[in-house]
Amino acid sequence: MYTTADQQRLNQLTASLIKNESRLSAAAEAEAIRSVIRYHDWRYYVLSEPVITDRDYDALFKRLKDIETSQPELVTPDSPTQRVAAGLTEDFAQVAHLASMLSLENSYNAEDVADFDRKVRELTGAEKIEYCVEPKFDGSSIALVYENDQLIRAATRGDGTIGEDITMNARALASIPLSAGFSKLGIYRIELRGEVIIRKEVFEKMNQDRKELSLKIFQNARNTASGSLRLKDPREAASRGLEAILYHISYAVDQEGKNLIGTKLHSHYGNIELLNENGFKTPIRDMKVCKTEAAIETFLAEWETKRHTYPIETDGMVIKVNDLKMQERCGSTSHHPRWAIAYKFAAKQAQSKLIDVEYQVGRTGAVTPVAKIEPVPLAGVTISSISLHNADFIKEKDIKLGDTVIVERAGEVIPYIVGVVADLRDGSEREIHFPSKCPSCHNALVRPEEEAVWRCDNAECPAQAEERIIHYVSKDAMDIDGLGRSIITDFIARGFLHNIEDIYALPYDDIRLLEGWGEKSVTNLRDGIDASTSRPIWRLITALGIRHVGVTTAKDLSKHVKTIFDLVGMSVENLTHIEGIGPKVAQSIFDFFSKDGNVHLLQKLQEYGVNTDNRPEDALAKNNKLQGQTFLFTGSLQRFTRDRAKQLVEENGGTLLSGVSAKLNYLVAGEDAGSKLAKAKAIPTVTILTEDEFLAMIG
Ligand code: IVH
Repeated sequence: MYTTADQQRLNQLTASLIKNESRLSAAAEAEAIRSVIRYHDWRYYVLSEPVITDRDYDALFKRLKDIETSQPELVTPDSPTQRVAAGLTEDFAQVAHLASMLSLENSYNAEDVADFDRKVRELTGAEKIEYCVEPKFDGSSIALVYENDQLIRAATRGDGTIGEDITMNARALASIPLSAGFSKLGIYRIELRGEVIIRKEVFEKMNQDRKELSLKIFQNARNTASGSLRLKDPREAASRGLEAILYHISYAVDQEGKNLIGTKLHSHYGNIELLNENGFKTPIRDMKVCKTEAAIETFLAEWETKRHTYPIETDGMVIKVNDLKMQERCGSTSHHPRWAIAYKFAAKQAQSKLIDVEYQVGRTGAVTPVAKIEPVPLAGVTISSISLHNADFIKEKDIKLGDTVIVERAGEVIPYIVGVVADLRDGSEREIHFPSKCPSCHNALVRPEEEAVWRCDNAECPAQAEERIIHYVSKDAMDIDGLGRSIITDFIARGFLHNIEDIYALPYDDIRLLEGWGEKSVTNLRDGIDASTSRPIWRLITALGIRHVGVTTAKDLSKHVKTIFDLVGMSVENLTHIEGIGPKVAQSIFDFFSKDGNVHLLQKLQEYGVNTDNRPEDALAKNNKLQGQTFLFTGSLQRFTRDRAKQLVEENGGTLLSGVSAKLNYLVAGEDAGSKLAKAKAIPTVTILTEDEFLAMIG
């Protein structure tokens, strides 16, 4: 993009413009400001490394706007004022698509597909048709326009003819190349269609984080993607983990405006290859060219199951005529193309009856309503209980006891209630009354102002104690083998366990006599508990269940203390000096260690032999070979998994980044690396490594 010399020149030009030293004509000044703004946008949105303050940027921007307002003849179509204005005003600007964005007709079974094929053959007069079959991504559709190889516009679908200009947000997404080599092929202007999605894994992680921060849980990835695209702040939009997958070229012309689809561009598959080669994300690895109906059938059947493990939410497959001339012969109705059809997977929704609502008290006292429904099979599992999140959710969806509810599995794993079928009510339904007292200890529930949840704030609440014990032994925390939820519940009922420290004083002689327990299982339990006494302290910090403190924060904290007792009395201010810890988290940590009961618990644990020291052998990095270096892995890795790669970087003292920016030192590229590799190549300070070169670095 910008060479080092370009950057130096633009930095100097910026400085002189800010100081107002230049004596330029209005036209020259406007052009100069435009060039520096473009440069600073690149630094900000692509490199995430601005070199100018927001204030200076805004002042330059305002000056450009002032010049353009007083002399409108100086406005150029590519002036940053024309784009940013659209991205940042209250409402997004409306833009007309180059080709209307049609939707697809649906099919549900082999017969529908056969009908579609018959129609295509009739329309084209061809005896046999070649089809491309690919996943139908469940996200929010977008159209990207590139002119002269530059991304000039991104828009949402809107009504299919007019969409919303979301260029600024699209520019902030690393998966959308800002420029691509279309002109090499004689393409001057091109419009691409695709879907903006959030990977299942990213979506779940996002919701987990939001839950920890007591923020509202997102219902599904599709709505979150579409809402995020419309955020007013591109930085926030980019932080939502959105990715764009491109699956269609809807328009392509040369310098003279001559159409190239069907002449220069021949097949759908070829188009996808072209996009892939230019650094776009595409379905290329998941699509298949099918020459017979039987081949389509087999591929669709494969995907009925494959989609459950596919990392992106799909609601079906799309079958497309491969030859673009044939596509043209098929034409379109005003609603959908006749050359493509969506094949919808079997429904992931089901209906059931809401029998009861139970209220679960979490370890931090949050009370979650849980719907008990008549068991219903859905996408391979039987569902009988579903979270209703909080009181507002019940109110918003107007859910009543006895209602017929529609259940859906979002993200393939978390079932949720989409809504009720009000038409099926017979008058016997009853209001759900959220309790005012804790179902476990009967303490009055409180609802902190900015939170959606009701809480029991009784530190002695038995339900919370139970959840705290369950959390303490969990995999990410002290990882105690042989002590699971049901055993804990049983031990509490028998009076063996009241709180965490009791784990280390279990009456093994009594347990040995219980039904289902024998010498071997008691030994296993004892070994598991003994092993937990020598865990590194980040595990103990995690295990304490401090609000907002997960594994990552616990690791950050552990690096800054000699013993866990150093955290007792550490001020909020000092805590916020620790990297990765913000004011809200710091306050929560401070509150936790200010309570005598919690300090007492730690003393007790220490007495029982639980490690409370930050020992040298626990150092998160085993050596510092990669100290101060940043890494990113892309493409499909052959030598190690992504998790292992992450672990290797951490163990060697390096830092992992999530995107390509000027902060990146090394990009490790696996097979079929795409846009990240292309982007990294454009930054002179990034070194590209093969997997073997990376392994050699850490020896
Ligand atoms: S092709 C003119 N391919 O599904 C035809 N669409 O219900 C362009 N979609 O509006 C669409 N994955 O937003 C196509 N692989 C895919 C798709 C896909 C998702 C969306 C798209 C479209 C909707 C139709």
